[in-house]
Amino acid sequence: MERLVIEGGQPLSGSIRVHGSKNAALPILAAVTMADGEVVIKNVPNLDDVLVMLDILRSLGARVSYYKGELVVDPRTISTTDVPEHLMRLMRSSIFMMGPLLTRFGSVRVSKPGGCSIGSRPIDFHLKGLAALGAEIDERHGFIECTTTRLKGTSVFLDFPSVGATENVMMAAVLADGETVIGNAAREPEIRDLAAFLNTLGAKISGAGEDTIVISGVSSLKGGEFSVSPDRVVAGTLLIAAAITGGQVQLENVKANDLTAVIMKLRECGVQVIGTRDILEARRIGSLKAVERIQTAPFPGFPTDLQAPFMSLLTLAHGTSVISETVFEDRFQHVSELQRMGALIKVDLRTAFVKGVRELTGAAVQATDLRAGAALVLAGLAAQGSTIIDRVYHIDRGYETLEVQLRNLGAHIERVRPGKAQGDVSVSQAT
Ligand code: UD1
Repeated sequence: MERLVIEGGQPLSGSIRVHGSKNAALPILAAVTMADGEVVIKNVPNLDDVLVMLDILRSLGARVSYYKGELVVDPRTISTTDVPEHLMRLMRSSIFMMGPLLTRFGSVRVSKPGGCSIGSRPIDFHLKGLAALGAEIDERHGFIECTTTRLKGTSVFLDFPSVGATENVMMAAVLADGETVIGNAAREPEIRDLAAFLNTLGAKISGAGEDTIVISGVSSLKGGEFSVSPDRVVAGTLLIAAAITGGQVQLENVKANDLTAVIMKLRECGVQVIGTRDILEARRIGSLKAVERIQTAPFPGFPTDLQAPFMSLLTLAHGTSVISETVFEDRFQHVSELQRMGALIKVDLRTAFVKGVRELTGAAVQATDLRAGAALVLAGLAAQGSTIIDRVYHIDRGYETLEVQLRNLGAHIERVRPGKAQGDVSVSQAT
């Protein structure tokens, strides 16, 4: 299994272009199946989760080509709506296939996604929404089968502004008969991206990015072209990387307005963040200060996906910071790994108390999930000595060759593949 090896202590400096958003790209790739023509999508990040989604599209019979971030899909050759179980199991986001396939072809069969390491992550809101639109749902033997002659527009009120459920219901409503109103919808920027993509193909969606979304059903969607927005979680991670190493990093291709909550907290820590709408620069001036409280929340609140990376920063901030995780019930698994590196953190249910230390020390640690993995990379960049991070495959799900990006900013970080003989490692020189 591959590992990342980091020699900490190098302040990062330089400029970097942020790649396309994973969370925007995944539902868009599912929505492609609804089109009646060829679709071209640009700025698609080369990530493991995206590659799984492309395999799903191919398994359904779609024609797919992907080269240097540009994806061309012809969904007119789709011949089945059964999503293979082995692909469903590789990625939770495969549930995005439900809404589009059901509304376009009248049926879909997927295997039930399990829980994952950050929480149980049920899909009841997705299913309730599809049922409200008129889907017949049959759950048996670990599979979910949905059928309909044609979905009918209705009002759907989500108990919680779930990102995935908002997207699934919105996609299903696009080809339904009449008008659908989604209340208490999630307001994440990725929902705006998905709606903008669907509208490019001829959908009629208004209000995406607000808490009420209105979709007027249309009878078909045409082909078209779209470019995915930059990844705000990757951008946030790189800003924190500049801060934690005491460096200065400029990001190109960002949407600064999507990062307001994170920028405000960085400033509270004493980090200077300046920029325009699409360029941001982070620079640390002096020592880091603790923040009174960070509470994760649906957008525009502080993103749960940057909770772990921000915690790494706070381990080195003077004073005690309090972090509450309100979105996922089990998202503190990075804590025990950070403690191995010398961090002083106490957890009480869904609140972590982080007392800043003078330095972290490198250690052998494990990425338990995607963002926990990113948090360990950040801690390793700032720590004294070597940090070895195992289970790098989690990180590859959401960051495009993270080590190459960080190396270009001056970090000492390598990807190694342990050889057959003990202690024999080969270093990957991918750029
Ligand atoms: C998406 C993001 C993920 C991010 C999360 C919250 C993608 C591919 N992933 O995940 O990176 O961390 O939003 O911003 O976009 N819930 C239910 N029932 C449901 C659906 C959700 O109880 O049917 C609960 C979840 O368990 C969780 C909360 O609602 O506690 C929020 O989940 P949700 O917003 O749906 O997250 P995802 O769409 O899975």
